[in-house]
Amino acid sequence: MAPPSRLLPATLQILRRRCASRFSTASSLVSPPSKAVLYDEHGAPDQVLRVADVPPVHLGDRDVCVRMLAAPINPSDINRIEGVYPIRPPLPGAVGGCEGVGQVHALGPAVTAPLSPGDWVIPSPSSFGTWQTYIVKNESVWHKVRSDVPMEYAATVTVNPLTALRMLRDFVQLNPGDAIVQNGATSIVGQCVIQLAKVHGIHTINIIRDRPGSEEAKGKLKQLGADEVFTESQLDMKNLKSLLGAFPEPALGFNCVGGNAASLVLKFLRQGGTMVTYGGMSKRPVTVPTSYFIFKDISMRGFWLQKWMNSDKAEDCRTMIDYLLGLVHEGKLKYEMESIPFSEFSLALEKALGKHGSQPKQVVRF
Ligand SMILES: NC(=O)c1ccc[n+]([C@@H]2O[C@H](COP(=O)([O-])OP(=O)(O)OC[C@H]3O[C@@H](n4cnc5c(N)ncnc54)[C@H](OP(=O)(O)O)[C@@H]3O)[C@@H](O)[C@H]2O)c1
Repeated sequence: MAPPSRLLPATLQILRRRCASRFSTASSLVSPPSKAVLYDEHGAPDQVLRVADVPPVHLGDRDVCVRMLAAPINPSDINRIEGVYPIRPPLPGAVGGCEGVGQVHALGPAVTAPLSPGDWVIPSPSSFGTWQTYIVKNESVWHKVRSDVPMEYAATVTVNPLTALRMLRDFVQLNPGDAIVQNGATSIVGQCVIQLAKVHGIHTINIIRDRPGSEEAKGKLKQLGADEVFTESQLDMKNLKSLLGAFPEPALGFNCVGGNAASLVLKFLRQGGTMVTYGGMSKRPVTVPTSYFIFKDISMRGFWLQKWMNSDKAEDCRTMIDYLLGLVHEGKLKYEMESIPFSEFSLALEKALGKHGSQPKQVVRF
């Protein structure tokens, strides 16, 4: 006979199944009708996206039906719709969005994952199609997360905070007291880099673009723990190292902008330093002076979360997501977001496309 510790999960599963059938309606193995934001061809998101009704879906034995609560609009979602991202969902009828949080609505009869109706779950690794009100996917897709954090954090934890964490860990051995430099510091990744670095005693030198509100943005980043924040125009000088004061020269730099902003990261790096490029928000190329290779022996690297997640890291990924949401719960990780109802999706999209100037990350609530 199995020891009690092994019997308990099975008993719980039966109770959960019963609970699930009470929770859902008479047609318990069919999802409710859903609304989705989808596209049939690639192009400008504000032209090709449409909101459509999606018919109910039958749940397979090991499927879980999730009622989505919130999902962000990330730069990579925009790039997928434009057709310029290496991995894209098949057309026509592709549903937008790649991360988000939902609530378990119903479970297929053979689901063994420890899930119950009402649990908060996220697709982990992140996967296509989170901009819809109900999603039916195999149990293996869903990772249960804590529900005592604001739902916007659960909706956004799988891409940007995880990217910040991996980049701090995967390229250069950093020790307390070291410094890193980054551009695009107002991005969610940038805000997470600042706070995760601080947790480990690492200083951050931050570069932001010149734009209306940049002084206010500096103040906000300093409140998050940024040691120094400069606009690009402040760095239009020869000897940037003089701005470091007591901080050591950074061995590691992050670039998500390109163009001049990438050159500024390089200028701060110490001999033998590494710059990791993970985004190209300005759409300008990264240019490296020959002398940086010869006399500074700079290394240029790249990071793509998708590649990291495809390398047998799914379990690590879930552990890290739990760690990151723990930091959110402890108040050690926060970032600016704007929550916007699904009925105002077009407005959220306009803001995410930069049509209203610089805006916080848009998170759609369903
Ligand atoms: N490689 C990966 O695996 C990976 C994973 C996650 C994210 N990313 C990339 O990381 C970057 C940041 O993503 P996020 O979701 O954290 O960003 P976000 O929160 O949506 O913020 C957008 C950032 O881009 C800046 N920006 C927008 N347009 C710009 C322009 N024309 N020139 C310079 N800066 C501009 C904004 O600056 P303002 O505040 O001044 O508007 C802001 O800092 C994106 O490029 C994204 O694709 C890559």
